[in-house]
Formats: sequence, C-alpha cells, structure tokens
Amino acid sequence: MPFTRRQILGGIAGLAVVGLGAGGASRYWLAQRGPGEGHDFELIAAPLDVELVPGHKTPAWAFGGSAPGTELRVRQGEWLRLRFINHLPVETTIHWHGIRVPLEMDGVPYVSQLPVKPGEYFDYKFRVLDAGSFWYHPHVSSSEELGRGLVGPLIVEEREPTGFAHERTLSLKNWHIDENGAFTEFSVLREAAREGTAGRLSTINGTPQAVIDLPAGEITRVRLLNLDNTVTYRINLPDADARIYAIDGNPVEPRPLGKEYWLGPGMRLCLAVKAPPQGEELSLRNGPVRLGTLRSVASTQAPGDWPPALPANPLAEPDLDNAETLTFNFEWAGAVSSGTDNGKPPSLWQINGQAWDITDKTCADRPIARLKLGKTYIFELKNMAQYQHPVHLHGMSFKVLKSDRRKIIPYFTDTFLLGRNERAWVALVADNPGTWMFHCHVIDHMETGLMAAIEVA
Ligand code: C2O
Ligand code: CU
Ligand code: CU
Repeated sequence: MPFTRRQILGGIAGLAVVGLGAGGASRYWLAQRGPGEGHDFELIAAPLDVELVPGHKTPAWAFGGSAPGTELRVRQGEWLRLRFINHLPVETTIHWHGIRVPLEMDGVPYVSQLPVKPGEYFDYKFRVLDAGSFWYHPHVSSSEELGRGLVGPLIVEEREPTGFAHERTLSLKNWHIDENGAFTEFSVLREAAREGTAGRLSTINGTPQAVIDLPAGEITRVRLLNLDNTVTYRINLPDADARIYAIDGNPVEPRPLGKEYWLGPGMRLCLAVKAPPQGEELSLRNGPVRLGTLRSVASTQAPGDWPPALPANPLAEPDLDNAETLTFNFEWAGAVSSGTDNGKPPSLWQINGQAWDITDKTCADRPIARLKLGKTYIFELKNMAQYQHPVHLHGMSFKVLKSDRRKIIPYFTDTFLLGRNERAWVALVADNPGTWMFHCHVIDHMETGLMAAIEVA
C-alpha cells in the first residue's frame, strides 16, 4: 500500500500557544490556528522531564507539553485537523482510541500509515462522529512510548449542552519508575506472561495523590480515563453520591456507581458526582488504595438536579437475526523460551492459534477474519486463561450482549474487559471498510502476541 501523507518537517513559526500542561516550562507545544477555522491544532511530541518523585527528574515523553498529554477537545460532528510533529528521538504515530476514523487516520504503522520519523510531521484529519471521552496514543513501541507518558485524553463534546455545569478529566496512569524517578523496565517477560508489567507510582493527571476540587453540593461530570499500560483499576468512591452516565464514551441509562467498577486499560467511565458539603472530601480509590481526593470547595451556584441521560451516539444497531457468529479464543501460547535471542519478541499469547509479531510488518496481510461490509457479526470472545484481557477493536464500536459470568445491560463500547475464563458475546455492524487491529490493551500482552487484524471489505 502506498503511503503519501508523511512529510518532512518544515518551519513552524508564528504559532500561538494555547495552553501549557503540567511541566510546561517549554516553548511551543500545542497551538491553535486562529478563530473561525474549527479545530486546527499542532501537537508536538517531545522529551520532557517531569517531577513525579519530589526532587527527582523522570525523563518522560510528552504530547503537547505534558505527560499524560494535553487534553484535546472537539465538538461532535466537527473535523479534528491536527498536525502532529515528532520531536522525539524515535519514530511514532497517533492512534485515536475509540474514535471511528477512516483507516488512513488510524495511526497503525504499515497498516494505516508509515511511522512518523524524528523531525517529521503527519496531518491527521477526520470528522468526529461520536461524543464522549476518548484518548490518543502511539501504536509503535507501545510499552515504552505509552509507558513514558505518550497518552492523552480526547474529549468530544456533545452537539448540545448536556445539563452538566462542571466537568473534570481524570487521566489515570501508573509509572514504571523507581524511588529516584528513573524508569524501570516497561515490560518484563515473566509479568507479560501473567497480568502484565505494572508500574509502581499511580497518578491522576500526572500527579500522585492528586486533589481535585469540586463545587460543594453541586453535580460535576467526572471523566475517568484509564490510560495505563497494564492496570485494571477497581474504581470506587466510598460514601459518594455518584452515577454512571457513560461507559467508554457511550451513554448508558444513568445508574448508581455501586461498590466497584473495573476499569481496564484503555477504558473510560463517565460519572456524575454530587460533591458533599464544603470542606468535606471523597476518596477516589483503586480497591482499597487511595488514588486521589475529590475535595468540596465553595460553590457560587445553587445545586442543580441530576442531568438527563446523555444523547446516544449514531451507531448502527446490530441486526442480530441475520448475524454470523465468529469465535475468538484468547489463548496462552506458553512459548516463553521462543524468540528471545533472534531479535523477535516472544509469543506468549495468541488469538485462534495465531500470535501477532510486532516486528513482522506483514502480519496485517493475514487477517484473522474477513467481514463483509454492512453485515452484522456476533463475536464470541473466549478467554482461555486466568488473566483478564481488555479486548479492543479499532475502527468500529461494538455492542456487548451477554456474558457467561455476569449480568450485562447491553451497551456500546470499543473495549471490553474479558474476565478470567469468561465467555462473552458482542455484536457489530461491519460498517467501516479497512484492516482493523483487534487486540488486548494490556500493552505487553499485545506486544507478545495478543493482537490480530480484522478485515472489512
Ligand atoms: Cu488504544 Cu490499538 O489501541
Ligand atoms: Cu484503538
Ligand atoms: Cu491481555
């Protein structure tokens, strides 16, 4: 396939800076081109030292001057036009997680585009169809690139006001660093073979034990994004009056948060949180561990009511009566010894007997399934192992129908957390032509085999 859109970086003079994230001592980062032209950004990826451990520097990589990356915002139905500039010492791409884009905007190297080399740029341009909380990250050397901080929220605002007067974005990420802030290994073989290599320091928006202010007594939309390589957060907010409004970018009928919500890597949860009286706080936790604090501060407005459900996204409803069922087995391949000394990553995991090799540029030429454009498919997802896999599909959203382990209220998503030994059924209309990655979002599972390509034509 010929790729044409990659270009050598010329001058980038005359840009107005619109916002520095955490650690934004630096220059130009993210700029917007003048009013009236919609969203037209320049986003720079570059090294950035951040202070995660007091008094120590961590050599992170940043999108738009912060790690996690700067928040991008666009309105549903509008175009996102973004020039991505690579000032990293390595090649990279941007993938728009959960966004339904044409294939050539999907950011997968050698499938959608060539990698963007150091000093080059690439123009991403697509119309944003769905509102919700999404994110962006590279699809090249993912353990290291995401691990160093190249992950950022992409918020798509609804066309009409939603009834939320306040909102906060909380990007969750664990860092693979030691007590001096130095990076440790992003992927360790023996961990990749289990639940994935976890970082040691958890942060919200790049801050350990962050304190987030909410107006007392009022309702705030709290967008939780799991931008971590590995960790499934068992989200809970003890004693809070909190309701779920959207899951992974798609609205659901509002319901109580309940005891705990398992937010796997790549997944998002949109809550409405009614802040307690001024001076009180809520503890945002991962299981028993506090991640950060929601603190009630003076409010100037009268407390509002719970907003109505968010408007549904324009997704095609699967035609279950005429669907074809395809089975995907997520298996342990167990070949820990293979590949380690020939420059290839080991294959630890496979889907239907096939392990993806991230060093083989031709894998996508051998799709694991070929779908007919416009037809409905049911995917039967079978986890053959005792480790969970957040199963993610590019290019199309799917509807989760049922599971053999838990009660599911059917909902649309792009990432489904397939529990240990669970069997689940999801459905989609194959309405986006292309070759789409289908993978586990535990990054070191993906890099040791748990990825496949699905062709829609
Ligand atoms: Cu966040 Cu290939 O995906
Ligand atoms: Cu994706
Ligand atoms: Cu996995």
